Amino acid sequence: MKILGIESSCDECSVAIVESSGTSLNVLAEATFSQVELHRPFGGVVPEVASRNHLETIHPLIEQVLTQAGLPPSQLDGVAVANRPGLIGSLLVGMSAAKAFAYLHQLPLIPVNHLDGHVASLLLAETTLSLPALVVLVSGGHTQIRFCEGPSLLTSAILARSRDDAAGEAFDKTAKLLGYGYPGGIHIDRGARKGDGSRFKLPRPLPGESTMDLSFSGIKTAVASLVRKIPPAEMDEARLHLCASIESAIVGHLMEKIRLARRETNASRVGVAGGVAANTLLREELKREFGAGFVAPPLPYCTDNGAMIAVAGMLEYLRGTALRGRAVLELSAVPS
Ligand code: KG4
Ligand code: ZN
Repeated sequence: MKILGIESSCDECSVAIVESSGTSLNVLAEATFSQVELHRPFGGVVPEVASRNHLETIHPLIEQVLTQAGLPPSQLDGVAVANRPGLIGSLLVGMSAAKAFAYLHQLPLIPVNHLDGHVASLLLAETTLSLPALVVLVSGGHTQIRFCEGPSLLTSAILARSRDDAAGEAFDKTAKLLGYGYPGGIHIDRGARKGDGSRFKLPRPLPGESTMDLSFSGIKTAVASLVRKIPPAEMDEARLHLCASIESAIVGHLMEKIRLARRETNASRVGVAGGVAANTLLREELKREFGAGFVAPPLPYCTDNGAMIAVAGMLEYLRGTALRGRAVLELSAVPS
């Protein structure tokens, strides 16, 4: 089965063709345009800028992957598109392109939840991921701990979610307080490797066993008040130690709740997905805790990409959620 996957829910426009045969998954072609440089001067994603740019890049990217894979549309088995959640203007661009392409070439159209796309990216690391497993979804907009019992990786119960900021948002907002550009997670990660996390103490949110839920806004507030007290002349030295403290507070909080989830479900396997799954400390801690039971997507598949949407599309197709004929034109976008 060969699926064309289209992702345009936020600031990455990405298209891929993924083939599944037997137990193997192959990314036949992939093309991504990241808008990070366009949004950087604004310190975050500007929705209007994002959707206008998607409009310019989506068709050339679709042409590019078809040429790269050497496939005519007639040899595809379907088109998967992220139709929720996300920025409405951005979603609509990818969806309109997917609807037109599927209708024109008489292919099934498979709507995919962007978050399920991140979860499905785990299969790009381990095609035969055995269940049950915990899945920690940590992106710029969402944080969830799921328990997937199967039969599909997408059949899961959400055990916990963030009550306020997402884990990625906490990295981005605290990075901004330290003077780093957007997106900030990678800067904190790099800085933390050279800093000493014991120099600045940050609060551990929602401690104890009474809830598995997460909360990151207190860490951001604590960093803001610490930064205000540091004289500008000392900031250069303090910055790397603050990076290490921030990373340790965010990852420590996640790990505390993941351990609770592990105890409650008896899961011996864990997958981590979403942009924050690229974080060095989080990967190390999960590996330490779960050993061979730990799985994470290859680094390029942690952030938003078309391949994960194609893989989630395959799982959805097997669940019978594909649209055909005129129904393709009825699909609508569901924003955040
Ligand atoms: O999944 P994603 O590409 O977009 C959403 O669906 O939101 O995640 C982007 C998030 C950003 O908040 C970014 O700062 C964070 O992932 N991120 C990281 C790292 N790389 C990306 N956070 C911590 N450490 C990293 N190495
Ligand atoms: Zn995402």
